[in-house]
Amino acid sequence: MRSGFVAVAAVAAAVQFTPAAALAQGSLNLICSADVVICELLENRFEKETGIDVNMVRMSSGEAYAKVRAEARNPKTDVWWAGTGDPHLQAASEGLTLEYKSPRLAELQTWAVRQAESADYRTVGVYAGALGWGYNADILAKKGLKEPQCWADLLDPGFKGEIQVANPNSSGTAYTALATLVQIMGEDKAFDYLKKLNANVSQYTKSGSAPVKAAARGETTVGIVFMHDAVAQAVEGFPVKVVAPCEGTGYEIGSMSIVKGARNLDNAKKWYDWVLSPEVQSQMKEAKSFQLPSNKKAEVPPEAPKFEDVRLIDYDFKTYGDPEKRKALLQRWDREIGTLAN
Ligand code: G6P
Repeated sequence: MRSGFVAVAAVAAAVQFTPAAALAQGSLNLICSADVVICELLENRFEKETGIDVNMVRMSSGEAYAKVRAEARNPKTDVWWAGTGDPHLQAASEGLTLEYKSPRLAELQTWAVRQAESADYRTVGVYAGALGWGYNADILAKKGLKEPQCWADLLDPGFKGEIQVANPNSSGTAYTALATLVQIMGEDKAFDYLKKLNANVSQYTKSGSAPVKAAARGETTVGIVFMHDAVAQAVEGFPVKVVAPCEGTGYEIGSMSIVKGARNLDNAKKWYDWVLSPEVQSQMKEAKSFQLPSNKKAEVPPEAPKFEDVRLIDYDFKTYGDPEKRKALLQRWDREIGTLAN
């Protein structure tokens, strides 16, 4: 009797716990190029709401682009969500991503729609954020250094070994910094600046937000990052202050693309429409993701740095998302800066 009961209970448990719905709904292979906390939050909520099994991998924007490109003949990825817009535009212009017009398009901010239009709808804007840096106020005070308010201030010899920024080959944040400086100063002067800055840089990290996490932990004084990544550390209670550079700065249009040849195309579209909804975008702050959301109806977290408060340059996404331009700038960075860093 008893063993019969156990057997029945086991079957019932199996029915309850076998993700039958998930099997029926299939799966989705996702590259996520934002912070791992928001990546996991969205992955879990989408699975719960749709029963679709998500295989998510977190990669920096440049790495994600390289993966999509390497898989072009035999795509393993369905959707690439987030990360800076330039490599998404590059993938679009190389025909690696699929044209898709979400029914949510009409609900999006102009900058997000423009991003889609400029790529013949092979990508779309999901959030935006301005570039700047965060510094550890305690270390700054201990070292008797002046608050760095301008790009020029970061060249102060007092910051020797006290600045971190990512490598622009792997990181979209660092590529945005490179393209921003080129747009503010002109290419040759920007590379002169980067050579001087290199004297103060202790490490070129792989991921874009790592430098300000290091500043929060007291491992470096300054991390050049998107301002919202610095805000996330300050909100956690670390002594991090956020700076919008006085000479002006660039910004990202974090983007999303469906991979051409996606094997789970219906699920890719479901994710795409879901993640553009105001309900989902309003949840990003729960993961301390303080970008400006692309859906006009999404809640803008009070902590999010506002574009009105930042001296923004008219960032030329078309030029700097162009494959030839990006390749040329990265090659020059490898030659002139990367070699110094080794
Ligand atoms: C962080 C930011 C995102 C940005 C991403 C780029 O996660 O919060 O807004 O898109 O970095 O990452 P990457 O590692 O490519 O610089």
